[in-house]
Amino acid sequence: MRAVLEYLEAHQQQFIEELKAYVRFPTVSAQSRHREDMLRCAQWLVEQLRHLGLQTQLHETAGHPIVLGSTPRRKGRRHFLVYGHYDVQPPEPLELWQTPPFDPSVRGGVLYGRGASDNKGQHWAHVKALEAYLRTGTELPCDLTFLIEGEEEVGGPSLETFLKRHRTRLRCDAVVVSDTGLPGRDLPALTYSLRGLAAFELELIGPNRDLHSGIFGGSVHNPAVVLCQLLGRVHDARGRITIPGFYDDVQPLSRKERQRLRRLPFSERSYRRLVGVSALFGEAGYTPNEQRMARPTFEINGLTSGYQGEGSKTIIPSSAAAKVTMRLVPNQQPQKILQRVEAFLEKHCPRSVRMNFRPGHGCSPYWLDPDHPDAQAALRALRRAFDREPLLLREGGSIPIVNRFKEVLGAETLLLGLALPDDNAHAPNEKFDLEVFARGQHMSAWLWQELATR
Ligand code: BES
Ligand code: ZN
Repeated sequence: MRAVLEYLEAHQQQFIEELKAYVRFPTVSAQSRHREDMLRCAQWLVEQLRHLGLQTQLHETAGHPIVLGSTPRRKGRRHFLVYGHYDVQPPEPLELWQTPPFDPSVRGGVLYGRGASDNKGQHWAHVKALEAYLRTGTELPCDLTFLIEGEEEVGGPSLETFLKRHRTRLRCDAVVVSDTGLPGRDLPALTYSLRGLAAFELELIGPNRDLHSGIFGGSVHNPAVVLCQLLGRVHDARGRITIPGFYDDVQPLSRKERQRLRRLPFSERSYRRLVGVSALFGEAGYTPNEQRMARPTFEINGLTSGYQGEGSKTIIPSSAAAKVTMRLVPNQQPQKILQRVEAFLEKHCPRSVRMNFRPGHGCSPYWLDPDHPDAQAALRALRRAFDREPLLLREGGSIPIVNRFKEVLGAETLLLGLALPDDNAHAPNEKFDLEVFARGQHMSAWLWQELATR
């Protein structure tokens, strides 16, 4: 291992330059004008992996290409899949970036750029750890396959189809994913649970056109008002969701788990400052960490109705709409929750407006027993790389494919995140800490040792 670790130390500058080249591709999966950029980036990735001596393939899909790269399969060796995504969230609003999102720059030990943290830098650490094994002629104790997709940020369907079609080649002992967070530079963590997601759009249709609110107002129900009332019913004053049956399948937090979450470093003051609010709000009876990691939520992501332009306008808008996503926890299921929500909205929607309920994408929550031998092996790798006792985390975010790995490949996922809480994922001035990048490479290098001999 000495040679591997020394190789990593000696090549940090080169790795950072490569990561900058990677971040320069504007791989915004949500925007169709970047289609070509997505393909060029996937081709670049294939070149990089091929150059390391991996057997590589670029798979076209109905959406964006999927990149595969494998070391040769050897009998009797465990096989691990390393998953990452090369697509990024839209960089807008551009005027809030200190340097352009796709012109990466290093300032104060941090690389700025869209995708630096979510997720290019995180899986690049794994690619570089493998490079260190291969370039130093160190025997790799297990077989690896990199699976890097381009539709994670749009919940795209291509990867699931791909998993099913290639399940034999992809069969593995476990999946390794670095696409979550760690609470601090010296606070490594294994994430053992992710929240699931259920999305829908709600449209309320009122009069057949916008109406003069003086001539008609008072006699025709305003869909924007109805939308506010309907959505206003969903939470009570204590932050609980009032939809009947919403909590039915929620696994209550055990004493042990509450203790574990309470031990996580957390300061309400700095958390408030991080998000810029003067008071927190959440479901009564739970701590902020419990609320955001282990309790379900109902969030309005977008609201539209009526006139949004300059100045005022006196109308009753003809329609009003909302985009909603709910975060789910074990053992809630998106389909069942969506049915309950629709029934609730139907029941309370007055007949004076017409309701359109459109269910959207969804994924189940994920949970891995931290006592699982592979989770324990991952904890040992974190311990070695960070020289600290790793934490066990639950995360509030979702990685939809993680449950598919389990259902289609029968494999659990080890979530070893390298994003800091202030990395600005999905926000302007996204950044990636280069010290965490280096430690991530060490963690990956140790991981293959620990997983091979667990
Ligand atoms: N890397 C995140 C997921 C994440 C972030 C997990 C922080 C845990 C902690 C991922 O890229 C992401 O943003 N996922 C989306 C999924 C959605 C688009 C289906 C999310 O969670 O909103
Ligand atoms: Zn993301």
